[in-house]
Amino acid sequence: MSAAGAASAAATASPDSSSGAASLARIRAPVQGLLEAVVEEMSRSVANDAPIVAQMGHHLMAMRGKMFRPTLLLLCSEVEGASEPAAIPLATAVEMIHLATLVHDDAIDHSVLRRGMPTLNSLFSHQLSVIMGDFLYSTALSRLVALGNLDALRVLTRASTEMSLGEMRQLAMTNALSFSEDDYDALIRSKTASLMSAACEVGSLCGARDYREELLSYGESLGTAFQIVDDLIDYTEARETTGKPTGLDLREHKVTLPLIAALRVMPAPDRRIVDDFFADPEPSDMSIAEVIRIVGENGGLDYARKRGAMFASRAEQALTGLPDTVARQSLIDSISYVMERHS
Ligand code: IPE
Ligand code: IPE
Ligand code: MG
Ligand code: MG
Repeated sequence: MSAAGAASAAATASPDSSSGAASLARIRAPVQGLLEAVVEEMSRSVANDAPIVAQMGHHLMAMRGKMFRPTLLLLCSEVEGASEPAAIPLATAVEMIHLATLVHDDAIDHSVLRRGMPTLNSLFSHQLSVIMGDFLYSTALSRLVALGNLDALRVLTRASTEMSLGEMRQLAMTNALSFSEDDYDALIRSKTASLMSAACEVGSLCGARDYREELLSYGESLGTAFQIVDDLIDYTEARETTGKPTGLDLREHKVTLPLIAALRVMPAPDRRIVDDFFADPEPSDMSIAEVIRIVGENGGLDYARKRGAMFASRAEQALTGLPDTVARQSLIDSISYVMERHS
């Protein structure tokens, strides 16, 4: 396959388990050509004379994610009509920053599976993955510097700092079970909503400057809903669907919204099981399944779904005053995609 053909396949064949109204393919349609250019630019960015970097870059490109953040950036850049050419390199930089955080996240979590494929840290080494994550960050930043768009650079470096602080807060947590809903809200805003909001804001800088505030606020609410759903999926979906191990957050003793909500109403016998689970450094699959059951029975999943829906409707409200364009419709469809996604 030619490079262009491979890039096109990469942009079109990413995992998309949802069907019907809010499929990723339909959301991407208005920016499909631009997205293919982003994939090509990413491939070029990770190609390197150093064979180990080229090897790791090749694996990352073969893994392919949903490319959701660059899709949002490109759609935002078109809400008033055609976007400016800078949208493509900026969308590339955003996806590379996202990729860097995933590479670091998996190395930190010792996760072995992502996007249905072995992680970089499982194939190479923990050390190499950390450095590869740094390489992806710095390559993205040098592209931004080359563009000379100080506004975009400011937005994206602020989001990167915010994400690092979020991950740091999560790791530094000592008593997981005392993690409150306010702590959780602050955490997901930092680690996930910040980059989605930045992607939308940077998109607005490339063709829709009048809607900068609306789009960044849309991205923030959508990103918050996205992480709540991600945390729900960790409880509800099989690894065959998500491409990530089920119950990984619980195995890592990460407390997310379903458990926070369930803990508030849990009867004492259930609470004792959860306490024992969190005292066990290596919980079994059976005990993970038991905690998942307890969280469901105590309304934790329903509560998280309702909170997610609340942020989804905030995202929709943010789009109210935007011109009625194909890109705006795709941004609206992105909300139901996020709420209904299984991977
Ligand atoms: C994963 O993001 C990290 C989270 C914020 C939950 P995505 O689900 O967008 O990851 P890929 O890029 O499609 O794999
Ligand atoms: C999101 O958190 C990771 C980043 C934003 C860096 P998660 O830890 O929930 O992401 P997954 O589930 O591993 O994709
Ligand atoms: Mg993770
Ligand atoms: Mg997760």
